[in-house]
Amino acid sequence: MNPHNKSASPMTALTRRLGSSGQPAIAFGADYNPEQWPEETWAEDVRLMREAGVNLVSVGIFSWARIEPREGTYVFDWLDRVIDLLHAHGIKVDLANATASPPPWFSHTYPQSLPVREDGVKISYGSRQAFAASSPEYRRAAAALTEQIANRYASHPAVVMWHIHNEYGCHNQPDYSDGAAAGFRGWLHRRYGNLEALNAAWGTAFWSQRYDSWDEIIPPRTSGTWVNPTQQLDFARYSSDELLECYMAEAAIIRRQSTHPLTTNFMGFNMGLHQPVDYWRWSQHMDIVSNDHYLRAEDSRSFQDLAMAADLTRGWAAGKPWLLMEHSTSAVNWQPRNIAKAPGEMLRNTLQHIARGADGTLFFQWRASKAGAEKFHSGMLPHTGTDTKIWREVCELGRTLQALGEVTGSVVGGPDGAVEVAILHDTDARWASELDSHPSVDASSLHETRRWHDAFYRRGITTDFCQSTDDLSQYKLVIAPMLYLLTDEGVRNLHRYVESGGSLVVTYFSGIADENDHIRLGSYPGAFSGLLGVHIEEFFPLPEAQSIELSRFGAGSIWTELGRPTVAEVLSTVAGGPVQGSPAVTRNTYGDGRSYYVSTSLQVEGMDELLQVLCADAGVSPMLADPAPGVEVVRRCKDEQTWTFFINHNDEDVRIPAAGHELLTSQDLQGTLHLKAGSVAVVRLPAAASEL
Ligand code: GAL
Repeated sequence: MNPHNKSASPMTALTRRLGSSGQPAIAFGADYNPEQWPEETWAEDVRLMREAGVNLVSVGIFSWARIEPREGTYVFDWLDRVIDLLHAHGIKVDLANATASPPPWFSHTYPQSLPVREDGVKISYGSRQAFAASSPEYRRAAAALTEQIANRYASHPAVVMWHIHNEYGCHNQPDYSDGAAAGFRGWLHRRYGNLEALNAAWGTAFWSQRYDSWDEIIPPRTSGTWVNPTQQLDFARYSSDELLECYMAEAAIIRRQSTHPLTTNFMGFNMGLHQPVDYWRWSQHMDIVSNDHYLRAEDSRSFQDLAMAADLTRGWAAGKPWLLMEHSTSAVNWQPRNIAKAPGEMLRNTLQHIARGADGTLFFQWRASKAGAEKFHSGMLPHTGTDTKIWREVCELGRTLQALGEVTGSVVGGPDGAVEVAILHDTDARWASELDSHPSVDASSLHETRRWHDAFYRRGITTDFCQSTDDLSQYKLVIAPMLYLLTDEGVRNLHRYVESGGSLVVTYFSGIADENDHIRLGSYPGAFSGLLGVHIEEFFPLPEAQSIELSRFGAGSIWTELGRPTVAEVLSTVAGGPVQGSPAVTRNTYGDGRSYYVSTSLQVEGMDELLQVLCADAGVSPMLADPAPGVEVVRRCKDEQTWTFFINHNDEDVRIPAAGHELLTSQDLQGTLHLKAGSVAVVRLPAAASEL
């Protein structure tokens, strides 16, 4: 990614449209679902939106049944009135094409359009997103609806962007229907050309799985035991592409009628759940990359997950500003215990997203629903009205964001401008690592990624996310946490990066498989053995919840290995058990660069100690020379200026040496920032004076 590319992005152009008197504004608003309310409510809605400082709402996401109550009959008068009303109050519209939830008439008329689960159970309608991506009936109906909406509203002055569908693949993917089977065959045919190549890629010599005709191929449906892993991986790739085709078809219809930017909302690092589509691939087709993020409310480090999700979203956006399409003002309705946000938490959450590159933050949703499955989900306007904590905080947030308009269009940077550290996160590697029948269920790419991101977070170092095939030359240090599967191109790229002076850290269970999920033979970790200067011969995963002492960097858990260095310097060994003496952490010189191997999962203290070594070797510095524990510090830069965000996650006030102009209190700091417990500050400095 190239965060220093100066051309204005569609997100930046949008913030200019949302502002007034030539000043850009951070997008602020929510999903607005007026169809859930009597029309008399709408006037109050827009009045209160103005009061809160809302400038953008997403309209129509779940309005299909209201817009097209029966096939081919379109009713727009109500939506005309909604959009006109918003326009009259100066509120812009992110207009949905409403294809996310087909109405009952559609599923009833076309039952063949319903998706099928892995075990053959057909998904019924009655909730939302009940359609198979491969269904021609769905695609036809979605295209017709999109055409109607685009045609009617493309030139409406309130409409400034398009919201295609909603969270693709959230509830209906993967789909194992016969339609998906046919689509999968076509996709495989395009990928492999002939059955011989497919049989080779899938390793079908194993368990007598050889295919003799394309008709024999089916999705990886429930079978007696583990289904062919490459078939599963290809099915994940196909399922992502099938949904992408739906997006592209709807996007093409809109693009014929409008030049406003298009997006669809992603679900990055969504609660640790399976990721249904390949967002790296999808983001190339978005004008604005947008993400939805919800805290895991019971996780005391949920704000660190938020930081990681925001950093990943910035990666998808190639470093440019992005949009937080949804988060919550307080509790959600879908976790086991829906813990409400503490006073001040929503403001901190929001500013974390902005600090990490968002130029807009919207909530799900404007007015908390009175009926339906999400009636206990918070909104900007709670059931209990405006004399409430939520409403007061929403209005305070609106004022805060108004003070930050100048930050829009800037990019996230490190102490010297550019971010210095990248974490690699390839979708295929993650999908393949999550397949069954692996050495340990405890080895999780997502969790290992989180451990590394957390460690940099604790040290006050901002990290970007990249793919293994990206140009990494700007980074002083690159981490490959459990990058299980790698293409040959990725392998070459990482070798090149180190050869030309980069520092690469590879963790256990990386570089093991090629793009077909076949083992790279000879030595573990297959793709990296030579680069790292180690020879690993056997994995020794640890029993559940067991850890093992290391000679340095604390203890390891989840994984150990039997192996030896070939040329690497050993920084730490396993201090006991069956692989005593095997390398735990190594360092190697390769070309002009360095490579490190970490053959176990380090715990917090050991990770912190290792990070000190890595950062000292690579010359990576934290944002502040002396970071205050519990205070998140992130910097955005544009032209000659920097804005440093300070987010105090502590229950106590802190004092931090800082100079510059603080935007939220509009004060010039005289060398010290006094940051109250749980509060935030944004300090502007001219670039020349980057030392705080
Ligand atoms: C999102 C979805 C919204 C709403 C929200 C509740 O996944 O896009 O429509 O359901 O979750 O948290």
